Amino acid sequence: MKPRQQNTIVALSKSEKNSFYVYFKERIKEVSEMFMAIPYYPKSIHFAMMANSNPDFIRLIRQFGLKVFVNSALHLELAQEIGYQKDEIVFAASAMNDDLMTSVKDAGATLILDSLGQFKRWNSLFPDQKVGLRCNIGDSVKAKESIAGYFIGQESRLGLTPDELQQLAGHGQIEGLHVYVGTNITDVDYFIYCYEEIIRLTQLFPSISYLDFGGGFGLDETGESIFDFEAYYKKVSGLMSKLSNQLGKEIKLMLEPGRIIGGDAGFFVCKVVDVKKRNGKQLIGVNASSVQFPRPLLYPDKTFHPVTLLNNNGRETKINDQQDSIIYGCSTYSRDFLAKNIQLPKARPDDIVVLGYAGSYSASAYTSFLGFPPAKEIFV
Ligand SMILES: Cc1ncc(COP(=O)(O)O)c(C=O)c1O
Repeated sequence: MKPRQQNTIVALSKSEKNSFYVYFKERIKEVSEMFMAIPYYPKSIHFAMMANSNPDFIRLIRQFGLKVFVNSALHLELAQEIGYQKDEIVFAASAMNDDLMTSVKDAGATLILDSLGQFKRWNSLFPDQKVGLRCNIGDSVKAKESIAGYFIGQESRLGLTPDELQQLAGHGQIEGLHVYVGTNITDVDYFIYCYEEIIRLTQLFPSISYLDFGGGFGLDETGESIFDFEAYYKKVSGLMSKLSNQLGKEIKLMLEPGRIIGGDAGFFVCKVVDVKKRNGKQLIGVNASSVQFPRPLLYPDKTFHPVTLLNNNGRETKINDQQDSIIYGCSTYSRDFLAKNIQLPKARPDDIVVLGYAGSYSASAYTSFLGFPPAKEIFV
């Protein structure tokens, strides 16, 4: 957290009675612009709305030139309400029924299908409408496991396998190939290694006009490695230019970044209400529940959100008396934790707790389980 961000958070926590999210717009802009600066054309960058579906967030990234990727009827409607039209929207989901297919077709969105059965259904409904295919290339590459499991390979339920893709080879309705290699990945070479496999598959589909390489761009919450945009620019542009040259037509590059766009621009802020000791640990109870900050609930022991404790004057509390600490929520649910296995100085009621990397998959994952309202989201 930068000093300027800290000052803003402290000022806000004086006026906010309840826990809240705060997003720093400047950072969202900076990261959006990193994607817009990929030196390859044609391209379109579609923010994955599941990472943050707050309409203010979506309006903001629209100003910065991003389009959207959605996976449900509600998010499709929201994207349209905000003003996105036709191929500014990419839609991909699995197990879509006729009604949903019809809505996506009527919206004119770019659709990515997930199985042979889905392709047959689409083809019988709309034989003249082009479509893209999600490729599960995990048989051809060594898939990496990410925090939410596998997205390609035998362990993944998603996409068409190379054998299934082969069955559709040469079909003129297929205009694009899609892959999503995993999430929160900072290894540029792994992306490129997977993309190369998609490029090999283009031989099967002479009518393609785009490749959608999905999202997965990592935010290293531990600060050990960061996503190397410069290396990515060079490699992805090189791959795409070579392909376009070989095919004698311009192939559009599409990407669907989610987490990285606002992840480190957002903070979740709450206040200490009660402190107790258990097994030598300090248990810090706050005026928030993990249903409002749900990543620790959805991925127990797999998420990391740096925690800063500030006293009610806004100064960081002493860092030389660190103790094993847990931050727990204000419900009776036994698993209501916001952070575990962390070191924090002695906490006191009214201290401010700031959780970092809270801009993605946090507010959007709110659940009404336990009966707490969604936390307010503030953009500064
Ligand atoms: C198909 C697809 N594209 C993009 C995203 C966004 O991914 P990330 O937040 O890892 O960039 C997701 C997230 O699940 C996805 O399923």
